[in-house]
Amino acid sequence: MDSESAKIRRVAQVVAGQATSDGAGVNLMRMFPSMELDMLDPFLMLDNFSSNDPDDYLAGFPPHPHRGFETVTYLLHGNMRHKDSAGHEGVIRSGGVQWMTAGSGIEHSEMPEQEDGWMSGFQLWVNLPASQKMIPPRYQEFEPEEIPVEELADGTVIRVIAGTTLGGTPGAVTQINAQPIYFDVTLPAGTRFQQPITPGHNAFLFLIEGGISVAEVPVTRGTLAILGEGDSLQAVAGDEGARFLLIAGKPLNEPVARSGPFVMNSEEELRQAYADYRAGKFGHVAG
Ligand code: CO
Repeated sequence: MDSESAKIRRVAQVVAGQATSDGAGVNLMRMFPSMELDMLDPFLMLDNFSSNDPDDYLAGFPPHPHRGFETVTYLLHGNMRHKDSAGHEGVIRSGGVQWMTAGSGIEHSEMPEQEDGWMSGFQLWVNLPASQKMIPPRYQEFEPEEIPVEELADGTVIRVIAGTTLGGTPGAVTQINAQPIYFDVTLPAGTRFQQPITPGHNAFLFLIEGGISVAEVPVTRGTLAILGEGDSLQAVAGDEGARFLLIAGKPLNEPVARSGPFVMNSEEELRQAYADYRAGKFGHVAG
């Protein structure tokens, strides 16, 4: 990015998130939506859960529906069993990802597959365009060892869930309307990280561990640093090194009508979603 027309993205907004409880009583940090930030088109929600107290996570997320968007679960620690109304079942393991396109609708449950120990990770909701809200549900699921990893000479390690790195490593998850970047980046102390981000795409960074500066501005751990306009990110790790998520995607610029587990374009479509779910059209999680 030596060209004079190139523009480095700066931190435009810092979002602290809000402690909340969801599912049957899972304690987590909801980074958005909140009073601070309603959404970051096409991203509708980001939850961060991190606890070694089973009381915070054992209740899990018993059967509930989704329609009109995608749920992305990425685990840093722990194991989560997933089961849905189409008979799909599996365990997301520590370091694994599930990119679920709910489309026209599924009912699913997401329950911890452990009695104790650490459970930590993220759930991101990604909106679908009107033209894809009613497509059949589909999954892209990857075991931890299936996620491409780029290791640089300076010790940088990038787990590439989606998108393509500056070095050309393509992510595991493909063919998503949002053309997302979803990286889990680990930097040794003092290392510089660079990544092109398509102008016009919304982007943010979540610092998991250590310290990092974006365009000379330090980012606070556990907060969302929302990046302003530009064509690239340049970040420098502090003395302890850093681990962070970098997420970006193409905005839809469509009307959003959302209610609980449904995200559509109009109130009428939301009413239809509730009616279809009540009528059993999504099916039910067995057992
Ligand atoms: Co769900």
